[in-house]
Amino acid sequence: MGLTPWVRRDRPQRREPADQRDVASSAAPVSAPSSVGEPDDSDGSVTVMVPELSADEAAVPEAGTASSGDDVIAAMEWDELASAVNACTRCPLHESRTQGVFGVGNRRADLLIIGEAPGAEEDRRGEPFVGRAGGLLDLMLHAIGQDRSRVYITNILKSRPPDNRDPRADEVAACEPFLQRQIELIQPKAILAVGRVAAQNLLGSAKPLGKLRGDWHHYGPRTTPVRVSYHPAYLLRRPQDKGKAWQDLKAVRSVVMG
Ligand code: URA
Repeated sequence: MGLTPWVRRDRPQRREPADQRDVASSAAPVSAPSSVGEPDDSDGSVTVMVPELSADEAAVPEAGTASSGDDVIAAMEWDELASAVNACTRCPLHESRTQGVFGVGNRRADLLIIGEAPGAEEDRRGEPFVGRAGGLLDLMLHAIGQDRSRVYITNILKSRPPDNRDPRADEVAACEPFLQRQIELIQPKAILAVGRVAAQNLLGSAKPLGKLRGDWHHYGPRTTPVRVSYHPAYLLRRPQDKGKAWQDLKAVRSVVMG
């Protein structure tokens, strides 16, 4: 399927220096996380965020040198934070991942995009949203006058779940301090959460995507505005929902670009 109608031609693209850029991007095939195919029109009564855990699975390992405690993470600056993600052993995913996937873009971005977790290609390349889903995300950003050097892009999980399964509650909890610190350092004007897993975990909600879309939510002590939209991997399979995603993007644009 082609990556079509996301380019606005009526507005020249605004460019700003990306002085705090993490990594440049390119495209390659990617296998998207498994949870992005969920329908968004369920009635809201049955959304299970994560599987039940045994006591063993639920235990987050003790913090150590390579897996800092939450309060230590909350005081980290960018480089230390990125190193801590790469050295992290706070959940079992470090055993199967190739590397941590920290984030990419402008560390002073007005817009923060949050996805679910790295897939196979992201795990290999160390950058979020590469491949076809990332290609569509790039086109979506372009449509609102942004690109991945101007926004910041990261995931709920910094390590790839095996076989692209949904993140587990213990993994999300172990990774949360890294995301919280990224948000605190960036201080974005708005957050766009793409896909059910990102939205539910960021907002602490069990509502289905269809119920979370269309409204502003707020995150954290700064009550950062959060908009929820479809995951680009889902839109690749369901292009008929691109119109609704465009509504979400326009809402974000109104906050980010005034
Ligand atoms: N899907 C995501 O949610 N995140 C990525 O980084 C890649 C695919």
